[in-house]
Amino acid sequence: MYDLAILWDWIAFSVRWLHVITAMAWIGASFYFIALDLMLKPNKALPEGAHGEEWEVHGGGFYHTVKYMVAPAEMPEHLTWHKWQSYTTWLSGAALLMIVYWVGGELFLLDPTKADLALWQGILISGGSLTIGWLFYDQMCKSKLAETPTLLMLLLFVILVIMSWGYNQIFTGRAALLHLGAFTATIMTANVFFQIMPNQRIVVADLKAGRTPDAKYGKIAKVRSTHNNYLTLPVVFLMLSNHYPLAFATEYAWIIASLIFLTGVTIRHYFNTMHATGKGPHWTWGVTALLMVLIAWLSTVQTGETWEDAEARALTPYEEKYVSAASFEEAYDVVIGNCSMCHAREPVWGNMQWAPKGVYLESPGDVARHADQIYLQAGVSHAMPPPNAIQMDEDARRTLVAWVREVRNQ
Ligand code: HEC
Repeated sequence: MYDLAILWDWIAFSVRWLHVITAMAWIGASFYFIALDLMLKPNKALPEGAHGEEWEVHGGGFYHTVKYMVAPAEMPEHLTWHKWQSYTTWLSGAALLMIVYWVGGELFLLDPTKADLALWQGILISGGSLTIGWLFYDQMCKSKLAETPTLLMLLLFVILVIMSWGYNQIFTGRAALLHLGAFTATIMTANVFFQIMPNQRIVVADLKAGRTPDAKYGKIAKVRSTHNNYLTLPVVFLMLSNHYPLAFATEYAWIIASLIFLTGVTIRHYFNTMHATGKGPHWTWGVTALLMVLIAWLSTVQTGETWEDAEARALTPYEEKYVSAASFEEAYDVVIGNCSMCHAREPVWGNMQWAPKGVYLESPGDVARHADQIYLQAGVSHAMPPPNAIQMDEDARRTLVAWVREVRNQ
């Protein structure tokens, strides 16, 4: 049977699959080149213009790489460019953001307890902030600030903290952290697309034409690549954070996200130094561990919303549609009986301390907002409830399916 929710979930899964693969290729290549760069050894026998060489062994063969700082004496016929890993990661990420947070915005993007936005307004802020963020950052890098890279980096951190706070004022915690990740990753890809690649093309063209390339292009690439280097790890954390409600759904999620940017610097600093000198500064691990302890502690401060708050809140039009269905009453009873012991603001199942994945299924509004999720997790699949906790019978599952289909077929 044709079913949009099922089709959509498979599209989402496929795009996520693609996104993770392209991101691995991008980050893998970028880590590889950073390490290679730092490990190059000088050798007098190298041709003119060569800065250093590295011998590596991998997959049954030996590789000999030579780096030419500005360019080799003669441009080779064939050049491999490393850019598609970055572009495809951004494109698949943008598609996934639209699938999960725009199309699924009623559930994953909007939080009526924070801001009273219509879905189109949320989408506008989502897309607009990513675009404006890049334009602002780009101007900053082109200004005089570029002459003091440390100050520039500090300002970038301040902007990220402001964005972290801002996103958390209007979006669900989950969407806030994800958007902060997307904001950062957009800057990283745009650095490659709008700056590093075009400049490299100018340099190649200059060399081919026998001109000496302007040294400024190398400097620009260096500043932007350094930012990308330090931003990589926090972006991955933010992208994974939606699996951990303690990271995204607690009072100080915005501070947690801000602190993660500092761990990105401490961890990368260790590896950068280690590859360059053969020995890393061990204090960076101490600082990273302290930051993680601070983060864990901050996450124990829970958001104040109680079950009474949730009950008292006015329904959004989307929720209203599902609550007013004739079959809602019966479906609601099934959810309360089979889901709420875990998916509650104060769970009562076993030693559970917080709702899994931050999914609350208590008030009618909660249940209505999660209709699609309930349909997929407990209706057409048997993912929920966990079978070792509760065995939910087929009749109960059919009740949930019937409710969601009733609303969809209206
Ligand atoms: C015994 C506790 C328990 C009960 C009862 C339970 N769940 Fe869950 N639920 C979990 C856990 C644990 C997870 C997180 C699973 C994971 O990490 O992949 C979860 C995750 C979810 C998610 C989020 C899935 C995702 O990947 O985003 C949804 C939606 C959900 N449950 C719906 C339900 C529904 C609907 C019911 C009742 C029919 C239900 N759950 C009953 C423990 C429970």
